[in-house]
Amino acid sequence: MEIFHISAECYPVAKVGGLADVVGALPKYLNKLGHTAKVVVPGYDNKFTNENEFDTVHKGLLKLGWFQFSYTILREKTNKLGFQLYVIAIPELFDRPNVYSYEDDTERFTAFQIAFLNWLTETDQKPDVIHCHDHHTGLIPFMVQFCFNYQHLKHTPTVLTIHNGQYQGWFGFDRIHYIPDFERGKMGFLEWGGIINPLASGIKCAWKVTTVSPSYLDEISENANGLEHLLRFERYKSLGILNGIDTDVWNTQTDEMLQTNYTIKGFKKGKEANKAFLCEQFNLDPKLPLFTFIGRLVGEKGADLLPQICSVALNEFHQKLNILILGSGDPNVERGLQSLQNFYHGNYNAYIGYNEKLAHIIYAGADFLLMPSRVEPCGLNQMYALRYGTIPIVRRTGGLKDTVIDIGDGGFGICHNQTSVFDVTHSMYRAIVLYEDAKSFDAVRKTCMQIDHSWDKVAEEYSTVYQSLIQ
Ligand code: GLC
Repeated sequence: MEIFHISAECYPVAKVGGLADVVGALPKYLNKLGHTAKVVVPGYDNKFTNENEFDTVHKGLLKLGWFQFSYTILREKTNKLGFQLYVIAIPELFDRPNVYSYEDDTERFTAFQIAFLNWLTETDQKPDVIHCHDHHTGLIPFMVQFCFNYQHLKHTPTVLTIHNGQYQGWFGFDRIHYIPDFERGKMGFLEWGGIINPLASGIKCAWKVTTVSPSYLDEISENANGLEHLLRFERYKSLGILNGIDTDVWNTQTDEMLQTNYTIKGFKKGKEANKAFLCEQFNLDPKLPLFTFIGRLVGEKGADLLPQICSVALNEFHQKLNILILGSGDPNVERGLQSLQNFYHGNYNAYIGYNEKLAHIIYAGADFLLMPSRVEPCGLNQMYALRYGTIPIVRRTGGLKDTVIDIGDGGFGICHNQTSVFDVTHSMYRAIVLYEDAKSFDAVRKTCMQIDHSWDKVAEEYSTVYQSLIQ
C-alpha cells in the first residue's frame, strides 16, 4: 500500500514536539511491514535541509487567493531515514528557521497543503491513503473531496491523526478564497463556531480520525477546546491508537548521544555514569535522587506550576533531592525557573532551550521524570524515561494514564490525580522514600526498562486501519 504522511514536523528534519517523533518513526515501521510510506514536510531553512542533498522531482505554481507562489518538490537523496522524504520548498513562505509562530502561518500551511495536492494532481499520482497530522494538514480531507482541481483524488481515503486538539488553526471567512474552487454547498464542512477551523474540517471530512491514545479520545469528547460535540458526533469513525517510540533511536546500548551506554543487566552502573556527568555539568549532588522535567514550558504540560513545585520540594526536602529542568516556552516560567538557580546551589539547575543530546543524557542519568500535564494526548517522554530506566511521575491523564501504572497498584511509576503543587510534591516525597529503599528502587527501574512500547505492533494497528479503508 502507498501511504503519504503529510505533516508540519518530522524528526530529524524539523522538530518542535512529539509530533515530529511520531512522523519520523511510524512510516519507517510501516515500510518494515511491506508498505510504501512516504513523508511530506515543508522546506524550512534549517540544519537538516541545508546539510542534506535532494533531487528536484517537480516544479509548479500554486494560487492562494490572489497570491501566486512557485513551489518545488525535493526528494532526499539517500533514503537514510527509512522512508522517502519529500520536502516542499515554497521559499517566500518557508525559507525561515522556525516551524511555527509567524503571522502568516495560515498562508504558509494552506499553501503547503495546496502545493501537495497540486503536485499529486500534476503528476497523476494516486496514493492508497493520505494520512494527515494535526490542523496544519487538516484541510486536505476537505480539499480532496470537494475542490474541483483535485477530482482525481476524490475517492482517496484520508486519515487525520489528532496529536493535539488544543490548536485548531482557526482563520476567518475573509480568507475563504485561499481554498481552491470548491462545491459551494459544502462550505459547512470548513466551519465550526462561525469561523474556518482546519482541525474541525479534518475531523468532519477524514474517512478515519485517530487520537494518539485511547484515554485522550475519551477525554476530548468531554473537553476539546470547543470541539466536544463534533468529536462525540464523529465518534463512530474515531479510534485511539497509542503511539510507540522509535527503539532504534531510543536504545541505551547504541545511543551515541549518551556518555555511557548500558544494557538492562548493567543498568545501575550505566545510569550512574550518566548521572555523574550531569551532576558535574550542572553542579548537583550525585548521591541524591535526581528529578527532571523535559519539555515545552507551557500550561498544558503543567509547567506553570514548576517554579512553585521546585521551591516547595527544595524547601521541604532540601537535603534529599536534586532537580534539573530542560525546556523552553512561556517566558514567565523560564524566568521563574532561572531565578531559582540563585537560591538552591548544588541541588537545582535549569537549562532553558532545546537540546536533543542533553535530553538523551538526562533520560539516562535521571532517577525520576516529572510529567504533571493538564492535557497529554499521548506523551512520549514517559516512554523514553521507562526505556532508559527512569521512573515516571505522572498525572493520570490521556496517554499518561494509558502507559503508567502506580507502584501501589503493582506497577512501575508514581501517579497522582491533579496538576497541583500538593499532588506533585506528595508524589516526589513517595519517590524519595522509594529511592532510599535501594532494592525496591532497582527492581522498579528494571521493570521500567522491560516495558515494550516499540512501533512494530502499533504500525500493524495503523495498517489495519488503512486496509479497512481501501476495501
Ligand atoms: C503532541 C502531544 C503529545 C503527543 C505527541 C505525539 O506533542 O502533546 O502528548 O505524545 O503530540 O503524538
